[in-house]
Amino acid sequence: MDTLEAIRSRKTIREFDRRDIPPATLKRILEAGMCAPSNDHMRQWQFVLMMDRAVRENLVAHLNAPKTKEGAEAIVNQWGLEPGLQREMYLEGIPRQHSMILNCPVLIIPCFRVHAPLLNPENLSALNPYASMWCCIENILIAAASEGISGVTRIPLGDENQRLHEIAQIPTDYEVACFLCLGYPAKNARRAKQVESRIEEHVHLDHW
Ligand SMILES: Cc1cc2nc3c(=O)[nH]c(=O)nc-3n(C[C@H](O)[C@H](O)[C@H](O)COP(=O)(O)O)c2cc1C
Repeated sequence: MDTLEAIRSRKTIREFDRRDIPPATLKRILEAGMCAPSNDHMRQWQFVLMMDRAVRENLVAHLNAPKTKEGAEAIVNQWGLEPGLQREMYLEGIPRQHSMILNCPVLIIPCFRVHAPLLNPENLSALNPYASMWCCIENILIAAASEGISGVTRIPLGDENQRLHEIAQIPTDYEVACFLCLGYPAKNARRAKQVESRIEEHVHLDHW
């Protein structure tokens, strides 16, 4: 698969086939992550592979997300989301936060080194470690797509970050970027319908 094809085929899925990702394939995917640009040239990224079901159960037991469509509806109504693709995506996604983390064949916790507290940054550069980490995550998603593997990212909410640090024994000078669930898509895995966009509507020549 060529690069553009892999980029175009990358889609978020939250329902996985039981098939394991072969170790050599996972290694290729993570190595692609390590090829991403990094602000300080150091690529100070670490990946915790959470494979133990009991550990994952412990994690999802405290997840800040409802498991039902009704619970998801209450949230999107509170957000004031109008009927449309975005609302549909949240209604699909929210109730699957537990199951996607529990059932994905590979759960990666990507961690990045921080030299100062990430929140309340003084300027945009202070967020460079976070930005670089996401370049790495996107490389992982595209490399995965090129192997027929899909996934989803979830940003830790509330006390999930602290729990991840404790459960995975992540050093305090490393931050967690997200839960990164990977696997082969289940046969009928739902893929969110995309908002239509024409590149001409996003490009400005010389000025906005
Ligand atoms: C920064 C970021 C945070 C996201 N957070 C979540 C999340 O908490 N839960 C979830 O199910 N999906 C999450 N997603 C996945 C988005 O819902 C998904 O990318 C979006 O619907 C577009 O669909 P696509 O990835 O198939 O293009 C996140 C994606 C990004 C880039």
